[in-house]
Amino acid sequence: MTETRQTQRLHANEAGIAEAARLLRAGKLVALPTETVYGLAADATDGRAVASIYAAKERPSFNPLISHLPDTAAARREGLFDASALALAKAFWPGPLTLIVPVSPGCTVSDLARAGLGSVALRVPSHPVARAVLAAAGRPIAAPSANRSGRVSPTLPEHVLVDLDGRIDAVLEAGPTEIGLESSIVACLGGAPKLLRPGGVPRAALESAIGRELVAADAAQGAAPISPGLLASHYAPDAAVRLGASAPLPGEAWLGFGPEPEGHALPPLSLNLSPKGDLSEAAANLFAALRRLDEAGATVIAVAPVPMHGLGEAINNRLGRAAAPR
Ligand code: TXA
Ligand code: MG
Repeated sequence: MTETRQTQRLHANEAGIAEAARLLRAGKLVALPTETVYGLAADATDGRAVASIYAAKERPSFNPLISHLPDTAAARREGLFDASALALAKAFWPGPLTLIVPVSPGCTVSDLARAGLGSVALRVPSHPVARAVLAAAGRPIAAPSANRSGRVSPTLPEHVLVDLDGRIDAVLEAGPTEIGLESSIVACLGGAPKLLRPGGVPRAALESAIGRELVAADAAQGAAPISPGLLASHYAPDAAVRLGASAPLPGEAWLGFGPEPEGHALPPLSLNLSPKGDLSEAAANLFAALRRLDEAGATVIAVAPVPMHGLGEAINNRLGRAAAPR
């Protein structure tokens, strides 16, 4: 049984931001907006606070968490940055990028937030509300996506409440998140940097900042995944998902991208990620669309093909996991 908590709804104004920071310093759980998705935040230096994140999310195992910092200088106190990590931080922080780097001798992130690894996941988000909370909290803040384990990440405060009302102390409400997909995760652990998770920064942009190709996580990892949370079925709606569909079959819900298929009447449960075929718009709409089709009772969601360039790699990665056997 998880502990019951009274979940306060805070406005993203000065008072709400100050209260969120006060709660975090007191070891409480606060859902915060970032530019990617809402995060479930706690003091990363406080092992008990971090443990309560795992309990609220019902994470089955202690999967390491991303620690969020207000700026690169604060991040460099926690981890050791090689030339690639520095180039990536310079190009994309603040923004939707997480770097996995070796822990620094002075690292304050708790063992539990790192799941005992010798590396630490660091991110400097760009969302002004997140940055204000981080500055006021004055310590690294651990935050996985603010959903129950195995569910789709929240892009609206309402999604957070559906999953976590009564399990967390507060949600700081700031409307829809801009990007809608989690951060890109790059490991800079000596040797070639590896893309562990495609996300809000497209691969081509990451590669141009470091002047080399990123090794794919699968090729790099061998048998033992270095990012334990990046396995198949993770972003799962309740409905089954059929990818690359040219049109819905009878009884299926439809999730389109670009112009709708000609010569097919669309089913009553039908949404389009971006009628004009814009990948940024599709990324921003993806998780909310999956939740809406689920809530409307879809049993199978047929999804139109989404191209692989730009944010398409991250969109297809999340769709692939939504479709994976569970
Ligand atoms: O956009 C995002 O990244 C959001 C917002 C809230 O910042 N956060 C997020 O966190 O997506 P989460 O916990 O859902 O995903 C973090 C991933 C996990 O798959 C975890 O396995 C991986 O990062 N990770 C964390 N620390 C790691 C480490 N030291 N080595 C390898 N992978 C790590
Ligand atoms: Mg997550």
